[in-house]
Amino acid sequence: MLELLNVKKNYGELEVLKGINLKVNRGDFVAIVGRSGSGKTTMLNLIGGIDTPDSGSILLNGEDITKFGENQLALYRRREVGFIFQSFNLLPNLTVYENIRIPLLLNKKDQSSIKTVAETIKIADKLHKYPGQLSGGEQQRVAIARGIVHNPSILLCDEPTGNLDSHNSEIIINLISEINQKFGTTVLLITHEKGIADSARSKIEIKDGEIL
Ligand SMILES: Nc1ncnc2c1ncn2[C@@H]1O[C@H](COP(=O)(O)OP(=O)(O)OP(=O)(O)O)[C@@H](O)[C@H]1O
Ligand SMILES: [Mg+2]
Repeated sequence: MLELLNVKKNYGELEVLKGINLKVNRGDFVAIVGRSGSGKTTMLNLIGGIDTPDSGSILLNGEDITKFGENQLALYRRREVGFIFQSFNLLPNLTVYENIRIPLLLNKKDQSSIKTVAETIKIADKLHKYPGQLSGGEQQRVAIARGIVHNPSILLCDEPTGNLDSHNSEIIINLISEINQKFGTTVLLITHEKGIADSARSKIEIKDGEIL
């Protein structure tokens, strides 16, 4: 369902991705590992349509997103992709409910899925709180809810447990795994932690801009 064909990306003189080839099946759970600066985030951003490659193709469900214009790419990001970052990135002036609602507003979808998702993620009792009133683990759960509420085809997680202690990391990884199984969402997850990488169904390593 997701395929990268000879994807290259430079920043100025720096060759960050030197021809990435990757195939991910629908419903897969893939861990991405590699040293700092190896190009993991760059690759995820290209897949998520928030940056564009210099050459190569990125196919999602048979469509090459590198051929998309700005409007098509914006729609793709909005509908097909969910993002979860290390630093939760919740909007502080919106309640939990309003944060989770953002992708639904952007996609003009009704709000009925918020309740189901909030229950799955176990934050149903926090919907009227503000992010600043929640612990880090709880904030990341809200970010996960926001990442999946619009039912994206692919969930891109960039070190989602990087700011969490081991107890909360485990909760977050279990939730992402549950989402992968329950909704069949394809998951790509960057991690530095070996234990987490080993719990994924498959693992890829990026080294010097190439997949080993
Ligand atoms: N927008 C940018 N402009 C210029 N250089 C960039 C940009 N984004 C990333 N880079 C450079 O590209 C290289 C790869 O960065 P990237 O963020 O993909 O690494 P990473 O594998 O995610 O590292 P980390 O594990 O530290 O998050 C780094 O040398 C980085 O400095
Ligand atoms: Mg990174």
